[in-house]
Amino acid sequence: MGIFRTKSIEAYQSDVQKTKLKREMGALDVTMLGIGVIVGTGIFVLTGVAAAQYAGPALMVSFLLAGITCGFVSLVYSELASMVSVAGSAYAYAYTSVGELWAWLVGWNLVLEYSVGASAVAGGWSAYITGLLRLMGFNIPEAFTKVPAEGGLVNLPAVLITLFLTALLVRGIHDSVTVNKFLVAVKLLAIFIFLFLAGPSVDTANWEPFMPFGWTGISAGAAVIFFAYLGVDSIATAAEETKNPARDMPVGIIASLLICTLLYIGVTAVMTGNMSYTKLDNAEPVAFVLREIGYRFGSALVGTGAIAGLTTVLLVMIYAQTREFFAMSRDGLIPKFICEVHPRFMTPHRITIMVGLAVALVSGFTPINVVAEMCSVGTLFAFLVSSVAVMALRRKYPATKRPFRCPAVYL
Ligand code: ALA
Repeated sequence: MGIFRTKSIEAYQSDVQKTKLKREMGALDVTMLGIGVIVGTGIFVLTGVAAAQYAGPALMVSFLLAGITCGFVSLVYSELASMVSVAGSAYAYAYTSVGELWAWLVGWNLVLEYSVGASAVAGGWSAYITGLLRLMGFNIPEAFTKVPAEGGLVNLPAVLITLFLTALLVRGIHDSVTVNKFLVAVKLLAIFIFLFLAGPSVDTANWEPFMPFGWTGISAGAAVIFFAYLGVDSIATAAEETKNPARDMPVGIIASLLICTLLYIGVTAVMTGNMSYTKLDNAEPVAFVLREIGYRFGSALVGTGAIAGLTTVLLVMIYAQTREFFAMSRDGLIPKFICEVHPRFMTPHRITIMVGLAVALVSGFTPINVVAEMCSVGTLFAFLVSSVAVMALRRKYPATKRPFRCPAVYL
C-alpha cells in the first residue's frame, strides 16, 4: 500500500545533509520569526469585537486558554523539530510516522493556513496602508484598492507588498531575517507604547462583571482569537536554515509563544480596563482606546505598528509556504524541478516566485476574506496530525536522540 509508506528519519537526515539552503539563523532569529508571524490581525483587529461580543473582560482567560492549547502543541513541535529537523514541519512529521497519504493531506491543509492566510493578511495590510495614506492626504482611487467582486479593478497595495516580500525572500534568508527583525521591533514598540500610555489609566471597575457571557463566552472567545496564535507552527519550517536546530527550534518555538501570550493578555487587560467592554466593538480597538483616553496620535502610531505587524506575518507565511512545498517537492509529491535552490541566493527561488505570484493574484483579485475562516481548520488539522506523529515516533524510533522531549507526551 504505497499511500501508507513512510519515510525514515535517516532518509530525511541524508536529505538535510545534501540541502543547499543556508544555515543563517540562531535562537533569537527564530524567536523573532515566531513573533513576526504570530502577532498581527489577531491582536490589532480581533480583540475588540471578541471582548464586546463574546467574552467581555474575561477575554484574558480566552487568550490564556488558547495559549495553553497552543502551548501543548508547541511542546510537540519542539520535540519533532529538534528530532526531525527538516523544512517540511507537520508534513514531514506525518511522512515519517503515519505515512504518505496523511503527509500529503497535511501538506495541502497547510496551504489553507499559509497561502490563504497570507492572501487574507495582504488584504488587511492594504486596508491599513490605504487608511494611513488617506490620513496623510493621499487618496488611492477605489478601483485600485478593491477586488473586482467589491466593485474595484485590483487590490494593488496587496499585490505590490506581496511581490516586494517575494523578491526579498528570493534574494536570501539573511535580508529577510534582517527586515523581519526591524519590523518586529516596530510592532513590539507600538504595543509597549500602548501598554505604557493606557496602563496607568486602568480602572478595575471596568473588569466588573468579569465574565458577562460566562464560560460559554470564554470558550467562544477563545475560538475567535485562536487566529491570533496562527503561525506558531510555521516556525518549525525554518529547521533546515537554523545553525543548531536541536536547540534553536525548541527555544524559538516556546519563547515566541510565551512572549505573545503574555503580550495578548496584557493588551486585553489594559484595553478592557480602560473602558467598558461594550464600547470596544470595532476593528481597531487598540487605536480606539488610545484616542478615547486623549492620545490623538494613538491612531497613527498603532496604525504604523499594525502595518509593520501585518508585513511580518505576511513575510513569514509566504516563507513557510515555500519551505513546505520545498519539502514536498524534494519527496516527489510535487514536481521536483521547482525545488531547486538558486546557486547564488541559496533560496528555493522558483517555488518562492510561484507562491508569491499565487498569493499576489488571490489577494489582488478575489474576495479572500470569505475563505480566510478556513485558515484555522488547516492549522488545527496539522496540529492534530503532529500530535499523533509525536506519539507514533516514540514507538517507532524509541532509541533516536531527542534533544527536546515533550513532557507527558501520551497525555
Ligand atoms: N497570528 C496571525 C495574526 O494574528 C495570523 O495575524
